[in-house]
Amino acid sequence: AKQAAAGVLSKLRPETPPDPLIARQATPGKHGSLGTSVPRIDGPRKVRGKARFAAEVPAEHLTYGALVFSSIPRGRIASLDTAAAEAAPGVVLVMTHRNAPRMKPPAGFMSDPRAAGSSTLPVMQDASIHWNGEPVAIVLADSQEQADHAATLVAVTYEAAPARLNFAQQISQSHQPESVLGEPPMIETGDAEAALAGAPIKVDITYETPRHSHAAIEPHAATVWWDGEDLVIHDTTQMLHQTRWTLAGVFGIPENRIRILSPFVGGGFGGKGLWNHQILAVAAAKLAGRPVRLALSREAVFRIAGGRTLTRQRVALGAKADGTLAALIHTGTVAMTEHNNCPEQFTFPARHLYSAETFLLEQRVTDMDMLANTFMRAPGESVGTFALETAMDELAERLAVDPIELRRRLEPQQDPTSGLAFSSRHMLKTFTDGAARFGWDRRNPVPGSRREGEWLIGLGVATATYPYYRMPGGAARITLTRDGEARVAMASHEMGMGTATVQAQASADRLGLPVERVTFEYGDTALPHGTVAGGSSQTATIAAAVTAASGKLIADLLQRAGNDSPLAGLSAAEVEARDGGLGHREKPELFESYASILSRAGLEELVAEADAPPPGEAKQFSMHSYGAQFCEVRVNAVTGETRVSRFLGSFDCGRILNPRMATSQFRGGIIMGLGLALMEETQFDERSGRVMNPSLAEYHVPVHADVPEIDVIWTDIADPRAPLGAHGIGEIGITGVGAAVANAVYNATGKRVRSLPITLDKLL
Ligand code: MOS
Repeated sequence: AKQAAAGVLSKLRPETPPDPLIARQATPGKHGSLGTSVPRIDGPRKVRGKARFAAEVPAEHLTYGALVFSSIPRGRIASLDTAAAEAAPGVVLVMTHRNAPRMKPPAGFMSDPRAAGSSTLPVMQDASIHWNGEPVAIVLADSQEQADHAATLVAVTYEAAPARLNFAQQISQSHQPESVLGEPPMIETGDAEAALAGAPIKVDITYETPRHSHAAIEPHAATVWWDGEDLVIHDTTQMLHQTRWTLAGVFGIPENRIRILSPFVGGGFGGKGLWNHQILAVAAAKLAGRPVRLALSREAVFRIAGGRTLTRQRVALGAKADGTLAALIHTGTVAMTEHNNCPEQFTFPARHLYSAETFLLEQRVTDMDMLANTFMRAPGESVGTFALETAMDELAERLAVDPIELRRRLEPQQDPTSGLAFSSRHMLKTFTDGAARFGWDRRNPVPGSRREGEWLIGLGVATATYPYYRMPGGAARITLTRDGEARVAMASHEMGMGTATVQAQASADRLGLPVERVTFEYGDTALPHGTVAGGSSQTATIAAAVTAASGKLIADLLQRAGNDSPLAGLSAAEVEARDGGLGHREKPELFESYASILSRAGLEELVAEADAPPPGEAKQFSMHSYGAQFCEVRVNAVTGETRVSRFLGSFDCGRILNPRMATSQFRGGIIMGLGLALMEETQFDERSGRVMNPSLAEYHVPVHADVPEIDVIWTDIADPRAPLGAHGIGEIGITGVGAAVANAVYNATGKRVRSLPITLDKLL
């Protein structure tokens, strides 16, 4: 099998130009197919334009939808005139709260593991307005252009009510949420304020981070139709079954009458959940009796699909003379709404990264009249590490110790707030390896000491971290055929991160098959139940289910092999899958191929389906990923312009399953982190609650010219408690980047920027 897998690799490799970084790190054969850089199996279809996305699915008698958005943040619709829109060419109907079908409010995400609702507000059921941008009408027409034009003809007037729009004012109204992702909102050990007051060296600083909007390359879209009582939805989603369960509740129909398909997703990052548009498309399709395509414009994504909320955070570190911590305080407030539950877990990194004698970690939220915020790549950790890791840099300078040496002094022996043992923690190695590769020893700790012409040059470092998660639930089905092929199926998600490829690799290794004989089916609620592609958890969740199903399959194969098989009398524990069959673990002569077992049993194929066991591992151990982010910036002394000139991410995420895809995930996260550090900011007008920059022309994300060569390395040390030994890698890349850039900017200029993004006005 290993030779066959290597054969596949040599066949596939020439198609993609070798990446020197990956070539160096690939270890073909070490884990069979896993650990090698098998190229993305969905890649060729994507680059050839053969992948069909939700907004491209054809349907007969299709209608196209366009939304009309409220222009006040709170109040009521006073008048609504749809006559001109209805009379416009090609218009099929205009749906407003007056003629929309009656629908129940969606069950909110986090309120139930099965729920996907980004908000629990009813959708278009009455005249009330809850945020600036809430849909007040959907126009259906025979073409997108006709729908877009007619939407401009809908005339709405409003009775405005007072709205809560000013974050600084609302902070005084803040409260603790009931929980933060099921964890307590506050952790307090000892008297941290007193310890801080008594500490000889301290920093006590406020940091601010802004709103961010989701800007995946593929805007949200759904193509939907009713087939009698059955509902078909082609969606772009990272939560297939949760969306199905929630829509069943909204429309009062059985879950099994709904099928959602999402084979290709053009980027997810937490934003591809259930928002108003799928509900409105389904309702309008019912009203029109025709299929509906509602492909959101970029502006619509900014208005109706929430993003990262804004934060104000305090980090106070009280150090003793030896540089150990007497007090670690990380508290703060984020903006939320009453109808969602996403409190931005910014204190989570401080709960496990460093040892301290006392802790005060508190999350607060304040309710505002705005679009519901949601998860966005490392929610909490990305902005929490900006505050914590900038403060660590500030403390290192006060102590006159190198920032990496400071982390060495603070390395805990066990999780400092839960007391649990770490399952696998090699954080200091990521610093040591990264420092050597990046040339950290060339950093001059004195700010402003390196200059080339107009350019001030500085280096910064920060810790990256993200928790290990595996979601409860999830089932996989394996179909093994007589000709030695396997189809592995689970309703999971491929958003571009390589899920289908890595799961084909993992299944091939598990079944002793070459990777080209295994297909992984996903993206369809008709398949066994999947879980959310979120929390960087999906790889572990699928692997646990596939492991359970393969165990069942092997037991069934042994039973069916019967007394005439060389395997007769062997237990499942004595055999392993290898070379397209089963064999005794130690005696090579005791082997029978799948083809032989199945043909003797008279079977064309054998099917096994099993649920993943509950994820107990993360309750017994403190399970996290770690990393060190190294950044070099050049800041123009005349204009304040910051250019990131070098970047290295050094990670500890357990076993690396596919170096090519891991590199891409890490780099993608780091690039998103550069956006967070230097440019991304949703401009929210605090007078009107309007998002003022709802386009990629004004909402800036990094482009190629903003991104230097990004170097990525990793420990590749397996975590024995995690399926496949692997931790998730989708989110950790963005964490720590904001602080690494800010710390480099300080080293270059002597200016501490404590509010993101670090724009040039803050440096002049
Ligand atoms: Mo991620 S924010 O869990 O897609």
